[in-house]
Amino acid sequence: MSCFNAVQISNAVYWVGAIDWSLRNFHGYETRRGSTYNAYLVKGNDGYILIDTVKKGFENELLSRIRSVCDPKEIKFIISNHAEMDHSGAIPEILSHVSPDVKLYASTLGVKALNAHFGSKVNPVPVANGTVLPLLGRNFRCVETRMLHWPDSMWTYDETDRILFTNDAFGMHLAGYERWADDCDENILEEESAKYFANILTPYAPLIAKLIKAYPTLELAPAAVCPDHGPCWRNDGIAHILERYRAWSAGERKNRAVIVFDTMWHSTERMAHAIGEGLNAHGIDACLMPLSGSHRSDVAKQLLDARACIIGSPTLNNGIMPTVADLLCYIKGLKFKLDTTAAFGSYGWAPAATKQIDVELSALSDAHLPPLNVLYVPTDKDLEDCRQFGEQIAASLKN
Ligand code: FEO
Repeated sequence: MSCFNAVQISNAVYWVGAIDWSLRNFHGYETRRGSTYNAYLVKGNDGYILIDTVKKGFENELLSRIRSVCDPKEIKFIISNHAEMDHSGAIPEILSHVSPDVKLYASTLGVKALNAHFGSKVNPVPVANGTVLPLLGRNFRCVETRMLHWPDSMWTYDETDRILFTNDAFGMHLAGYERWADDCDENILEEESAKYFANILTPYAPLIAKLIKAYPTLELAPAAVCPDHGPCWRNDGIAHILERYRAWSAGERKNRAVIVFDTMWHSTERMAHAIGEGLNAHGIDACLMPLSGSHRSDVAKQLLDARACIIGSPTLNNGIMPTVADLLCYIKGLKFKLDTTAAFGSYGWAPAATKQIDVELSALSDAHLPPLNVLYVPTDKDLEDCRQFGEQIAASLKN
């Protein structure tokens, strides 16, 4: 196949990645706008350097874009910034097309990860943190960025064209032909970059905060920041995305409460509405998310900068609704930290659901209110109690 062309992004750097228009699920994260697997080809004095590859299955698209610039045999070096399969899956196949003497570089932990994934099919060479690799007349500085997104992750800085290749960092799942963020809709960029951070990077927020703090000391002055998913950043976009990462990793939050619930016969739903009214009346932006129509990854995105999480489920079979169990499992893994949490729900003969939710919520915040239960169907008095429950949560957020 030869219909895919490279896109030149600087004097010597070409985007040669793949666009996955059909991706809708990335290990449990709903990717409604698809994604890209970005790979970059850098022209050196006497050959080419490939930065990252693509997911297995997209090798032909990658090779086609490479061939629009050079013969793949001219690729003498590959730098793998991250061993997760969406960036490394094509390495074994690509190795059979590039120079037989190619050298594959990865971080120390990247070497271990690549060997564990591909065994003897690859032969990676480790680069220590801070190493400057002189390749084909250009200097590539390798900066370890552990846990952004895996232990092996690193950034590579092309000192000649001042391009910073950041693998998962500053990326987003967004399929499209636009290679620059400033060619995209700003609202979509904000939504998808926040959703990406919430669903992929939140567990590592403390490490990211340290990295962003140390960024000025790394002596990087990129003209472009090129992640492995979604568009690249240039001009003011670089400072913008760095600032967003600073705020998200620091846990900066809005006066927002996310009310997530499922319902059997609308009792828990009516409770949610009344709680939302109480919060809203006291200046808290209440975001109601019925799990019948809200994906867990959208809830995670809302929680990224919310201060409270209130979860409701009716008691079902002496437990919680499966949708609520799914959500609790997911957000526990993402290690969100909220100011306040609370549980609510209706029940028939024993209020088991809120007890179960309450136990899980204790991992998400130090302050959580006692659960609110309603027998079968909320009365007017019950709904007034729900509203007051919302007011109580609002008050706790103001303290
Ligand atoms: Fe896009 Fe952690 O892989």
